[in-house]
Amino acid sequence: MKWRSLFLLAILVAVLTGCRGTPHQGAPGRFSFVAIGDTRHYSRIAQPQAYRDNIKQINRIRPRPEFVVNLGDLILGHADRDMTIWEWEEFDRVTAKLKPPLYLVAGNHDVWDEHSLALFIERYGPTYYSFDHRGSHFVILCSELPVEDGHIAGAQLEWLAADLQKHADAEHIFVFLHRPLWVSHRGMARSGWNEHVHPLLAKYGVDVVFASHDHEFKNYGVQDGVQYYVTGGGGAPLVAGAFYHFMLTTVDGAEVSSVVIDTKGNMLPHDVVTAQARTTPSEVRSTVSGAIRNGTLGGKHASVLVWDSHVVELAIPCEEPGLARPNSQ
Ligand SMILES: [Fe+2]
Repeated sequence: MKWRSLFLLAILVAVLTGCRGTPHQGAPGRFSFVAIGDTRHYSRIAQPQAYRDNIKQINRIRPRPEFVVNLGDLILGHADRDMTIWEWEEFDRVTAKLKPPLYLVAGNHDVWDEHSLALFIERYGPTYYSFDHRGSHFVILCSELPVEDGHIAGAQLEWLAADLQKHADAEHIFVFLHRPLWVSHRGMARSGWNEHVHPLLAKYGVDVVFASHDHEFKNYGVQDGVQYYVTGGGGAPLVAGAFYHFMLTTVDGAEVSSVVIDTKGNMLPHDVVTAQARTTPSEVRSTVSGAIRNGTLGGKHASVLVWDSHVVELAIPCEEPGLARPNSQ
């Protein structure tokens, strides 16, 4: 009888935690996690090959990342309930191949009205929440709540302020959301992020903010100690010059470092695209796609931009990455 009770308790815990990673404290120490975004398909038939390729590369990383955060736009969405459920089942089927535990962020293709929001919550749980891992704190925000008009406001903003205050002594704090509400384009300048959210993040020492929505990688730099990234190359159609990728972030004591990994397993420094945009002729930038490769220039390791089989521009010199390369095993 006792074993039966324990078995039922285990099932209850599994149901409550859903398909997400199991939140746990864990001992402080060196660990890594993945951020990937916009893995959705562009038809309703199947998840894109680039998402499957990214899953393969994530699974090859050693030591294994301890969890993955998908930053949203997981399905095409904007369909009726039956079709949306069909899309979610396809997402679940492909995503089941991912080895590390998974945390989800809702994107605008996943949640677009009250019905799709209810379906998302029914399948995957709350759209904003937080968890602790090895002494660091991780905050998942939702930029898609109809009642908050695509902003971080109202009850969610109050929750965020309280959550950050409660975990102010965490070794590191990381924040994840779908839309890069800090940027000035696509109507996001009126989100109130820079007036109401960023000051909170700066006050409580947030290390990094990850968003996606734009189908590219972009390093927005550090503002008031907060590093901002867009990593939206998980599988959806790319903007010109972008490449499919995900980000691997390593926490080692006080140190936090991030690299970008493409679907071939190439590891690129976290400012590679910024450097590419700075140094690459615009006609090349608008034509080339997925052509950044690690290489050697003048005897030094470097990331180079390759176009039509020729190295056309040095993207950025970099140190030999200290992490194990995903395709080296
Ligand atoms: Fe989006």
